[in-house]
Amino acid sequence: MKESYEKPVILKLQMGLMNKFGASYLKRTRTEIDGVPVNKLIEEFGSPLFVFSEKRLRRKYKEIYNAFATRYPNVQFSWSYKTNYLNAICAILQQEGEIAEGVSEFEYEKARRLGIEGRDIIFNGPYKPSHILEKAIREQAIINIDHFEEIYDLEEIADKLGQKVKVGIRLNMDTGITPQWSRFGFNLETGQALDAVKRIAYSKKLILNGLHCHIGTFILEPRAYAQEVEKMVKFAYQIEDEFGFKIEYLDIGGGFPSQNRLKGIYLPPELAVPSIEEFAEAICDTLLRSLRPNDFPELILETGRVIVDEAGYLISTVHAAKRLPDGTKAYVIDAGVNLLFTSFWYKFNIELDREVQGVFEPCVIYGPLCMNIDVIDEHTQLPPLPRGTRLIISPVGAYNVTQWMQFISYRPFVVLINSEGKIEVIREAETLEDVVRKEKLPARLKLVQ
Ligand SMILES: Cc1ncc(COP(=O)(O)O)c(C=O)c1O
Repeated sequence: MKESYEKPVILKLQMGLMNKFGASYLKRTRTEIDGVPVNKLIEEFGSPLFVFSEKRLRRKYKEIYNAFATRYPNVQFSWSYKTNYLNAICAILQQEGEIAEGVSEFEYEKARRLGIEGRDIIFNGPYKPSHILEKAIREQAIINIDHFEEIYDLEEIADKLGQKVKVGIRLNMDTGITPQWSRFGFNLETGQALDAVKRIAYSKKLILNGLHCHIGTFILEPRAYAQEVEKMVKFAYQIEDEFGFKIEYLDIGGGFPSQNRLKGIYLPPELAVPSIEEFAEAICDTLLRSLRPNDFPELILETGRVIVDEAGYLISTVHAAKRLPDGTKAYVIDAGVNLLFTSFWYKFNIELDREVQGVFEPCVIYGPLCMNIDVIDEHTQLPPLPRGTRLIISPVGAYNVTQWMQFISYRPFVVLINSEGKIEVIREAETLEDVVRKEKLPARLKLVQ
């Protein structure tokens, strides 16, 4: 076969960056997701398009659950709604055995609407207005208290209901992770957490039965969890011995990293991110060593991104190519930070839907917004992409379809490829009607009478 002609070019090679003689970030072309052709997906639903793989999601959940359940006898996962609260995603994880974790009235109501019982919802977060707190108590939700005002609110609710109310408290602590997440819950080292327990014990209106903590997100250090667990167990026994409360659950939050490439970390995720086995081993080994004989409080995990991130892809399309004044090649694609909030901290894996001939050169990828911050990748190596090339961007399953914004354009379709390889719409694309539905135009301002 005759080889295609490539015009010769002279390119300045930049120090420290990959060039045509080294590896490129672009590893593959991808023409399908779970066996469904990318072209077919775009023909049916347009571009951009979020695609979730049910197979990957279920497989990942099982892998992570098993890592813990084979090491500790009393494990419960609780789906962190803020990570991805599309009904279909929550329902799949519910089917797999997760309960729900929410941090706001909206998330609580969304879980209830989906059919989750109050007793299967963990209600966290620093802002729980009294009316929703009362509803959650009536429905027997698991409440983790964030601050003293919430203790007082709960005491009032207990009075009103004429019953003692079961609660957990959220702790924050030093586990060697910086910056320390100290704004949520009660600090352990300063004695603030002990003061909270004293208040709960002396007022006699609440029953303390759980401890919660979430040390941060994208934690690359299994030892940090070992410290967290050790401190939680020690505190739990102090509470039991001094105040007589039995701590029935230790909720250690989430924070395990997905196989995403964090900006500023040179090593690829395969090398930088510890395996889930390493996290599970550090956590369960410390638990089993710290707990008293025959005491196995429920170990709750609220892990989010590691479960769903790799199940999500965004297909986007090259709309234009430009040359910047400094010579850098730039592409404008149809998806920006409005859809990919996580591009602020991740360097995504970008695959092309076709083989493209030509020399790789440094490129920047811009989104469609008329805003300078709309950059999906500040620096990548790409061959010359014809208009219409599809970019398959991943992993994007965590925190994007919750933090996306409806800014100057509509949010696109979200589809699920189910375990049989069939496409199911799990969120329709927005229309102008959806966006303006809540607006009111005073009659005196109407342009068309
Ligand atoms: C209380 C709580 N639990 C769980 C999570 C999920 O964290 P991740 O996605 O890092 O596992 C978060 C995220 O911020 C959180 O605030």
